[in-house]
Amino acid sequence: MELSRVWLMPQGFPFEDAAPMGGVALSTAVQALRHRLGLPFVFEPISSPKPFLVWGGSSGVGMFAIKLATLSGYKVVTVASKRNWDLVKSLGASAVFDYNDHEVIAHIQNWVREEGNGPLTQCLDTISEHGSVEKCVAALGEGGTLITLLPPPEDINANGVKISYTLLTTASHRRNVDDFERMAKWNREILPKYLDSGKLYKSLVPLKLYTGGLEDLPEALDYVRQGKTSGQKLVVLLK
Ligand SMILES: NC(=O)c1ccc[n+]([C@@H]2O[C@H](COP(=O)([O-])OP(=O)(O)OC[C@H]3O[C@@H](n4cnc5c(N)ncnc54)[C@H](OP(=O)(O)O)[C@@H]3O)[C@@H](O)[C@H]2O)c1
Repeated sequence: MELSRVWLMPQGFPFEDAAPMGGVALSTAVQALRHRLGLPFVFEPISSPKPFLVWGGSSGVGMFAIKLATLSGYKVVTVASKRNWDLVKSLGASAVFDYNDHEVIAHIQNWVREEGNGPLTQCLDTISEHGSVEKCVAALGEGGTLITLLPPPEDINANGVKISYTLLTTASHRRNVDDFERMAKWNREILPKYLDSGKLYKSLVPLKLYTGGLEDLPEALDYVRQGKTSGQKLVVLLK
């Protein structure tokens, strides 16, 4: 059977660091940024920087999205709780604001203006609920493209912004042949190059490790269900 989401780990790459890269988060960031928005590969970054908004930079998908967009030559602005500001900056974000700040949209737009790299036209909303889609539309302001990871609210006023919902399963089960082929190419050819070049490295994202094998799985799932994940990926090591 041909698989789209299998890749070869470099020698010496620890399993616990490979697990988050083989999981859903990195693949979803790749699908959204490269296969939907057309961001270039790392080996051909854009010649002059452009702003890019990652809403939810400390989420699993958000952390990888910051790294990939930065490697593609974009200046990333993101939102996260203050406790995660150092983390998102270490991944490459140029600016970070608190999503609970009532002035967050004004802060983002001021930053875009002051940077002088042109208008903000591209955004990935890694949260896609609790009002985040509306905020991303407001941040884009004068049009552009917004990728969501959950279906956007039906009654949203898009204000000229093109909103596009992406779902990783279209790439894992040949439901969409183009998505399947592009994800297979990423995992077969491009991801190994990123790893060999050291641009995606071990310890890229903070891990919360469970070392008790499958017996730890219910505890890890409860942690996720309770919404406790913040700036980390959970890895359950099999014994
Ligand atoms: N479409 C797809 O194929 C696909 C694939 C993967 C995931 N998803 C969906 O994408 C969403 C994110 O998944 P994930 O695993 O990446 O999430 P996660 O790691 O569990 O997200 C937790 C993070 O979300 C941040 N957050 C919570 N509410 C926020 C808000 N209103 N604005 C900004 N940040 C906020 C928190 O930031 P702080 O701790 O800094 O406050 C926390 O770090 C989920 O709904 C998931 O179902 C969809």
